[in-house]
Formats: sequence, structure tokens, C-alpha cells
Amino acid sequence: MAYAPYSHYQVGAALLTANGEIFAGCNVENASFGMTQCAERIAIGKAISEGVRDFVAIAVITEDGGTPCGACRQIIHEFATARDITVVVADARGRYRVTSSDALLPGGFRLRDGE
Ligand code: THU
Repeated sequence: MAYAPYSHYQVGAALLTANGEIFAGCNVENASFGMTQCAERIAIGKAISEGVRDFVAIAVITEDGGTPCGACRQIIHEFATARDITVVVADARGRYRVTSSDALLPGGFRLRDGE
């Protein structure tokens, strides 16, 4: 479902919650390029807006197996409080590797008071 008319780089994300729900996301680009929203953040935003914050894993799929950008790593890190979130990075041929929020952003910033 990616809306990527500018980069033509389609990204899909599937966020698994602790209660077994899956929230999907895709990248949503904009003619004002800086307003583009990444797939991971769309998926997380959908879950948060439904009152779900306890995440187990997120899978990200692209044609070439691209990894989450730095900004998305920080967004994922924000919710890796109960546990390290598993991150699956997959490509269109079905190849994948498994990593985690902590491995992708060691020592990521968090405001303890904000929890
Ligand atoms: N993109 C994502 O959706 N997630 C990432 O983690 C990296 C980049 C999107 C943004 C843009 O629509 C396209 O990929 C090319 O940068």
C-alpha cells in the first residue's frame, strides 16, 4: 500500500503487539519531501492511536532489505521499555535477518520521566 510516487521505494511494516495484534504501515510520501512519513512510524502511530503500546516485534520489508532509518530507530526505541523489540528486516525475495531495537540503536535517548 506504499504511497511512494517520488522515490518509488516501497516500504511495508508490520508491528506485532504483546496481545497478538498486528498493525501494518507503509511509507507515505509528499510533494514536500521532508513531510514523508516512514512505514514504521505509521504502524506505530496506528497502534498508539488505538491505545496499544506494548510491542514485541516489528517487521520491515523493502525490495532490497533496507534497514530502518535513524529516526525510526529512535521511535521504536521509545517503546522498547518492557522488552527489547525484535526487528525483522526482510527483502522482496523473502530473505530476512533478525535484529532488535537495542542492537539498532544502542544507548538510544529516553526521557525516564516521560514513561
Ligand atoms: N522509508 C521508510 O518508510 N522507512 C525507513 O526506515 C527508511 C525510509 C521510506 C521513506 C521514503 O518514502 C522512502 O523510504 C525512501 O527514503
